[in-house]
Amino acid sequence: MFAKVNQVIEEIGAADPKSMEELELFRIKYLGSKNTIKPLFGEIRNVPNEQKKEYGQLVNQAKITAENKFAELKETLESAADEASAQTLDLTMPGEPVALGSRHPIATTLNRIVTIFQRMGFAVVEGPEIEDDWHNFTAMNTPEDHPARDMQDTFYLKNNTELLLRTHTSPVQARVMETQKPPIRIIAPGRVYRNETISARSHAQFHQVEGLYVDEGVSFADMKQTLMYFAQEMFGTPKIRLRPSYFPFTEPSAEMDVWIGMDNEKNYRLSKGTGWLEILGCGMVDPNVLTNCGIDPEKYSGFAFGMGIERQAMRLYDIHDIRLFFENDVRFLKQFSSVI
Ligand code: DAH
Repeated sequence: MFAKVNQVIEEIGAADPKSMEELELFRIKYLGSKNTIKPLFGEIRNVPNEQKKEYGQLVNQAKITAENKFAELKETLESAADEASAQTLDLTMPGEPVALGSRHPIATTLNRIVTIFQRMGFAVVEGPEIEDDWHNFTAMNTPEDHPARDMQDTFYLKNNTELLLRTHTSPVQARVMETQKPPIRIIAPGRVYRNETISARSHAQFHQVEGLYVDEGVSFADMKQTLMYFAQEMFGTPKIRLRPSYFPFTEPSAEMDVWIGMDNEKNYRLSKGTGWLEILGCGMVDPNVLTNCGIDPEKYSGFAFGMGIERQAMRLYDIHDIRLFFENDVRFLKQFSSVI
């Protein structure tokens, strides 16, 4: 019995694993759940009583020897591995820089606009970019023969004349009015799509912010005051003008220009020599639209407006090609890293 234990102790002493894999085999053999020392403890039954104590101690010693040997070998092998990798590691190399991102100029412009209206109590809502014909056109009082409904102008989903990529954010107006009762005071920022030839000045995708205010007694004067405040906050001037216009979903309709002046060549060029820059379309919500969305036009009235973001961002940051916004070229984007 004793000889067997001594032999195991000797074996442990002589073991010489050269790698982590070999060390693992050593661990399994002497320290694993089915190790070779375990049965030796059981053999104590066959040892005469007066030698039991001594035998027990010896087997215990075998176990401790295995544990110590394992710890020792592990340390040696690990530090050897560290040393090997240290030889391939050049500590004089410069560290890897962590590149800081920056906000996209469209996001910055959008945030500015949204914040101004939030301060006036407008809530932000979003609608789907894949829209149905009802919300994009019919509910918004856009007649069947309107050119916007043409395949040439609108991206319809394949084999489907019911679903399309929204051509404006106005359908969000309908979605909100269908589900909420006045007072309604919302803005809806988002991406819109039109089947246009892509050039420096126009793109097939761009961003808009829609606004809608519906309550009892909302007037054209309320709209004018709201938009004047917006112009003051966004462009630093309350000087606006409303030109009569036409949109199917508003009556009367107008287009709003902001006075940017002609003090320098840039503003002269931007305003085409007039000093006025066209910013948005607006008007009183057409009673047909209210009715379509289940709101009584005898009781309620409202105003709405919609504006494009890209043109404002181009003016704000002096960008001359709309395509730059969608290319995500870091050389372009990182120029805005100091903009918040
Ligand atoms: N949806 C219009 C467009 O895309 C913009 C617009 C004009 C929105 C007048 C409105 C509005 O809410 O009242 O050109």
